[in-house]
Amino acid sequence: MEYKNLTKNTKIPVLGLGTWEIGGRMSRDTSYDAEGIAAIRGAIELGYTHIDTAEMYGAGHSEELVGLAIKDFDRDSLFITTKVLPEHLRYKDVIKSAEGSLKRLKTDYIDLYLIHVPNPKISIKETMQAMDLLVKQKKIRFIGVSNFSVEQLKEAQDFTENKIVNNQIEYNLLTRHSGMYNVNIESEIIPFCQENEIIITAWKPLVKGILFREKNKLLEELALKYDKTLSQIAINWLINKKNIITIPKSTNFKHLKENLGALGWKLSEEDMKKLDEKLR
Ligand SMILES: NC(=O)c1ccc[n+]([C@@H]2O[C@H](COP(=O)([O-])OP(=O)(O)OC[C@H]3O[C@@H](n4cnc5c(N)ncnc54)[C@H](OP(=O)(O)O)[C@@H]3O)[C@@H](O)[C@H]2O)c1
Repeated sequence: MEYKNLTKNTKIPVLGLGTWEIGGRMSRDTSYDAEGIAAIRGAIELGYTHIDTAEMYGAGHSEELVGLAIKDFDRDSLFITTKVLPEHLRYKDVIKSAEGSLKRLKTDYIDLYLIHVPNPKISIKETMQAMDLLVKQKKIRFIGVSNFSVEQLKEAQDFTENKIVNNQIEYNLLTRHSGMYNVNIESEIIPFCQENEIIITAWKPLVKGILFREKNKLLEELALKYDKTLSQIAINWLINKKNIITIPKSTNFKHLKENLGALGWKLSEEDMKKLDEKLR
């Protein structure tokens, strides 16, 4: 595994496993439990140590499957990220959500706890105060956010005594300017995070596979040139950038292995630029 600095003393794996749709979408789906658990276990055996989940995924069932999958591994060797729902951002709700996540994950601590999506209807002050308490109680190690603009990040930082170390946003070869929640991704959010030592986690790094279905000449040329697959090029382009890590989801062992093959080599600066400019 390769790492980037989350803080001066803590590293975060550059490649993690996404778990959206493992255990259901917005509601609990138990029909593929064995497959989901096997995929998470298999990923850890292959060398993944960072797992990204959320109380939203499968209405908590994704966290339950992660909990079952990790129970026989050394907890301290893993890095678990989970997220609190935007409707649970009141002080008491944040504490209750974190406790629910800990129970489902069968763990004493969450490595990185994120506000899943900003909610302008709830004062960010009370959310951040609850996050601070969770850090004090050692229930969470680090605080982060997701889908936050620069203004929202600055405001949240004003109300916490801890540093916000992560912003998880939609970012991939085809999503550069605006995504589902954010605009000015490349022009504002990423530079701000890079300048302020905030790790950016790129979600939907493979555009849910769309990247492979729509033929792209440059991507194919580069895959041939480096003897890598399209997904390896797409992931390498992300993790080659300052402060960016990513979390592709897969329950397919061939894909899990393939995505790990995005590590250990680098696209040249010239080819990074070509992807930066031509695929926009
Ligand atoms: N913070 C947020 O608001 C937010 C929003 C969305 C997602 N996320 C997180 O980000 C993670 C990743 O995003 P995502 O799941 O939406 O999309 P994604 O990782 O871009 O794409 C996942 C899809 O790509 C396929 N895939 C994976 N590796 C492949 C490969 N090597 N070749 C071909 N297909 C491949 C997977 O199928 P197989 O399973 O068959 O491999 C799956 O259908 C999520 O799982 C979740 O943890 C966060």
